Formats: sequence, C-alpha cells, structure tokens
Amino acid sequence: MTLKRFLLVSTLSLLCSSLLNAGEVYLSELDMANCQQGWGQPGINVSVDGNKLTIGGEQYDKGLGTHSDSAILLQLDGKVKSFTAMVGVDSETGARGSVRFVIYGDNKKLYSSELLKGGQPATQVAVDLSGVRELMLLTTAGDNGIDYDHANWAQAKFVYDGAAPKTASQPVEEKYILTPPAPAEPRINSASIFGVRPGSPVLYTIAATGERPMTFSAKGLPKGVTVDEKTGQITGQTVRGSYKVTLIAKNKLGKATKELTLEVGDKIALTPPMGWNSWNCWGCAIDEAKIRDSAQWLVKSGLINHGWQYINIDDCWMKKLDTDDEVLGGTRRDEQGYILTNKNFPDMRKLTDYIHGLGLKTGIYISPGPSTCAGFEGSYKYEKQDAEIFAAWGFDYLKYDWCGYGSIVRNPDLVALKLPYIHMAHYLAQQPRDIVYSLCQYGMGEVWQWGGEVGGNCWRTTGDIVDTWGSMAGIGFDQAKCTPFARPGNWNDPDMLVVGKVGWGPNLHDSRLTPSEQYTHISLWSLLASPLLIGCDLSQLDEFTLNLLTNDEVIAVNQDSLGVQAGRKIQTEEGEVWVKPLADGSYAVGLFNRGYIASEIEADFAALGLKPGKYQVRDLWRQQELGNFKGSFKSQVPRHGVVLVKVTRK
Ligand code: GLA
Repeated sequence: MTLKRFLLVSTLSLLCSSLLNAGEVYLSELDMANCQQGWGQPGINVSVDGNKLTIGGEQYDKGLGTHSDSAILLQLDGKVKSFTAMVGVDSETGARGSVRFVIYGDNKKLYSSELLKGGQPATQVAVDLSGVRELMLLTTAGDNGIDYDHANWAQAKFVYDGAAPKTASQPVEEKYILTPPAPAEPRINSASIFGVRPGSPVLYTIAATGERPMTFSAKGLPKGVTVDEKTGQITGQTVRGSYKVTLIAKNKLGKATKELTLEVGDKIALTPPMGWNSWNCWGCAIDEAKIRDSAQWLVKSGLINHGWQYINIDDCWMKKLDTDDEVLGGTRRDEQGYILTNKNFPDMRKLTDYIHGLGLKTGIYISPGPSTCAGFEGSYKYEKQDAEIFAAWGFDYLKYDWCGYGSIVRNPDLVALKLPYIHMAHYLAQQPRDIVYSLCQYGMGEVWQWGGEVGGNCWRTTGDIVDTWGSMAGIGFDQAKCTPFARPGNWNDPDMLVVGKVGWGPNLHDSRLTPSEQYTHISLWSLLASPLLIGCDLSQLDEFTLNLLTNDEVIAVNQDSLGVQAGRKIQTEEGEVWVKPLADGSYAVGLFNRGYIASEIEADFAALGLKPGKYQVRDLWRQQELGNFKGSFKSQVPRHGVVLVKVTRK
C-alpha cells in the first residue's frame, strides 16, 4: 500500500468508527466545579475521603466519590446513548451510611436505586439516554441523615454519538417574597409564655409590629415587675407563682392585647430561644463593635418586633492558647482564675449593658475543655469562676461546646459525656440571674435523651451546619428521632440558621441555599421547635431575608406554648409531611418536596393522626385561607420547597 492510500484508508476508517462507534467519557473526566454535595468535595477517581473507590469490598479505578445529598447537572445534545455505573456507599464508612442514587432526564425520573447501605455490594446502573438533553445525577440521604453517606458513582461512563456530555451550573431560582407586610395597627408577636426563676431579673420585651409611636401597658403583673410604657420592656424581679398578664399595645390606629403567662418557677426557656449568633457569620473575625452593631441592627431592621432577642457571642472572645500568651507575655486568667478577654472585647460589662438597654438579651460561649474549638481558653478546672464571671458580666445564655474536652477523655462513655455538662449546670444554678444553658456536643451519646436531665435548656443534635441543601436538609429531615424529647425548657437544636450573608470568617457570601430551600429551612426549624439563631450579617439583610425572618404566623409555630416538636408522619421517596400540634388544638403541617423537580405532595389527614372531619387550611407563608378540606390536603410544591399550613378542625 502506498503512503497516500494508507492515509486515505485510515482516515476513512477513523471517520466510520466515529460515526458508527460512539465516543466514551467517564463522569470523573468531566468538570466537577459545579457539583453540589452535603459535605466535602467530589473525589476524582477516589472516595470523598480520598481513598481508593471501594464498594462492598470491591475496588474501582475510575469514578466519582461524592457525599449525599449531591447533585450533578449535565447538558447533553440528545445523542448521548447511555450512562452506566456501579453505585453504592464507600466501604471506608464501615457499615454506616445509606444513600439512594437517582437519575432524572428532562425532568423525568429515569432511575432510582434501592436505599443502599454501607457494606452492601455495588448496584449496577444502566440508563438509556437517547433524546435526553438535561440530566441530573443525584444522591439523597436515607433514613438517618447524611452522616457517613459517602456515595460513589464508580466506573460511571457515558457512551455518545455526538458531543460528549458537559456539566452545567445548578439552576438559579429568583428570590420570591411570600409574606405580606405587617399591618399598621398594633399586633403583639412575642411568645405567650415566659419563664423566670424567683428573684432573677426579668427581661421580657413586648414584641409588637405596627406604626410608631406605640405605647405599652400590662395588667396583672406581679409585685416587683413593671412595664416601660415607651419601650414595652418588662423588668424587675419577683416571687414564685404563675401570673396571668394582659399585654396591651396602642397606637393611633388601634389597640392590640395578648395574654401572657409569666411562670416564676424553676424552668426557663419555655419557648425556643430566638436571636442571632456570630459564628455562621464571622467565625473568629469578631470584636465588640460588630456585636454592638448586630444588636443595633436587630432593632433597626425591626426583627426585635417579631420576637428576635438574643445577641450571642460565639468562640474567639477570650485569649488564644498559644499566641496571646507568647506575644503579649500575659496570662489568660487573673490571680483568682477569672477569665480575661482578648483585646477585641475590652469591656464585656459595658457591652452587655448596651445590649440590655436595647431590650435584648445576650449570650456567650466557651468549652468545658482546656481549649475551645478554635483554640482559645476553655473552662476546664475553672468552671466555677467562669459561671460567676458570665453572670457578673450580665450574660443570659451560655453555649458550652465540648470540643477541647476531647483531650481530657478520648472515648467517653455516657457518664463521661454527661459529667462536664452537669458540672457547669451546678455552677450556673448558683448564679443570681437566669442563664439559658445550651449544650453543644454534636449529638454524641444521643444527647436528646439526657440533655434535659443534665440541666440543658437546649442541645445540639448534629455536627455543624453549612449553607448547602445537602447539609441543611440532611440535618433538618433527620430530626424525627429527637421529636419525643423536646418540651418547654428543653429543646433539640439542629444548629443555627444559614440564610442571608454568611461566611464563618471575614469574607461573607450570600447563602448558597435557593429561595425555596430557605423557606424549607425556616419552616422546618419552626416545626422542630428549634432554637432560632440567625447566622448572618444583620447590617446586610436584603428584602427577601428580612421577609423570611419576619413572618409572625411562622414564628408563632416555633414559639407555640405547647412546646411539642413536629414529627414526620408521611415519607415518600421525595415528599415528607411533618406535623406539629399547637396549643389551640390546631396543627402546623409542613408539606416538603425533597426532590429536584416540582411535584404534588399530599397530606392525608388520617395518616397525620387527625380525627375524621372537615379542616380549615391556612397557608402560613402567604397568610391566606385556602378553604375547608376533608380527608386530605394536597399542593404543588417547588423543588426543595415547602408549603406550610395551619390545619384547624371546623
Ligand atoms: C463548633 C461548634 C460551632 C462553633 C465552633 C466555634 O464547631 O459546633 O457551632 O461554636 O465550634 O469554634
């Protein structure tokens, strides 16, 4: 064969093979910059932890190691023939983790695996993609949240005729506002029950919306407690008793009243604490000015009129273990063992006075260990002094974060888990003011079963939240296990809110949750009777975020005086329905869509545990009656979104 002829033949055969034989590309060869996942980064040909991809003991050379909930979006030209993969949970988790692998093509479900658990062998996936233009490869958490959900798409490969598939960015959803503005007439929004210990200072600010100027009064306050006519701040101290108080707010357009039960007894935090915390916003990049400004913004933004009241300082206000001592040559405590602040917090008492003066409360943070999570001075061996100084500084809330205590006990049993918390509770109880006690140990030893017993008013049930769907939904929808343990004075805490501008450091970004995901976040946390701690920069609240945080009917679900946490009553592959009984005999019902496309979710009344009959249904986000329903209520729910309703028997 001449060279010319050889070239012609080989060009022709190449051409034919590209026409007849399709091209192939592995998923792991595509750009994964837009892959979203609940934890970590996608591993290219390795697991999410960076190990060789292994499912059920079998190793794979190629593939993608993700973590649920994850979403990869791809654009195809309609000529991609097939997608094949071996899927399962990576063996690095032991037998833990459970994941479902789901594939959508042009908004139709093409494939859904069984719920695959850690340790199980891989499942083979083969999907025909002829004609498909938009593809979604999803992994969703199973029945136990996202922990250990190391989800592998092993040997994942596309065969195509035309162009190779390309990954695409996640869909953008425009912000949408659902809640109408509060009326100009007065409306009282603060909780209808408030607990304080006998002799402790009372601080209850009547939260009311409506045009200013407004005047406040209260009937039935016990001796020693008064209300400030201008600010609505109820202060003083009094003796044990249950007092029925009528709160009154007046402006030129009218008058509002609300019954308040003032319980002067042994229990505090009778409704979940609501406020702001510095961590999800600035992490360690905090100082007194930022805290003071946040308090000011809580007032200026109007959030205070909806019941938001705590301004909580998280980690990093004290001296750092290594640097401060070395650099400053100083010490982290004084001669009596009282803790010293770092230079960013020159005068704690002045700061708390300022915050209290605004009608707000304030919280502080430390660890039972020798150091905090960020490496600052902890309480270990100085618990008594710390409780005393926190009270002397005027704090109303303490977050007590396990972290450094891990160096004291490495593999704690239940007794060791409880001990540091009992220890601090003992000293807090001796202080002349009420300090809401927030345990933070990420749910170890099923803390929800005993957090109340060791003195906690609330306890974190999970690791740290971040502003992704995988993290928020993974945590939120995993709270059913804790439902029976919430009650007035004792709350499960699935971590702080990730709406608005967050960042965990000096640089902030808009929450990566879509608007619908943010409605889900606030609805779910309200149903869960969770502490509501905003974690964003309050000076940069946009209209959407402010609207999201000021729906009084939604907040009322969280603050309901019955204090029962919602339970999950219906769970389908994508839909969940959660129900929270309320003090007035009605129910708050959340219809959630965990899926990636809008779909109809149905709340069957019998499945919710409701008596047969007719029910009036009210949309809480829109604050609109939807009519009377018998048997069930169903609604179209956006992707990752919610319809939150109140259901009242007629
Ligand atoms: C832990 C907690 C967080 C935060 C940081 C501070 O990670 O879970 O909420 O308090 O410590 O270092």
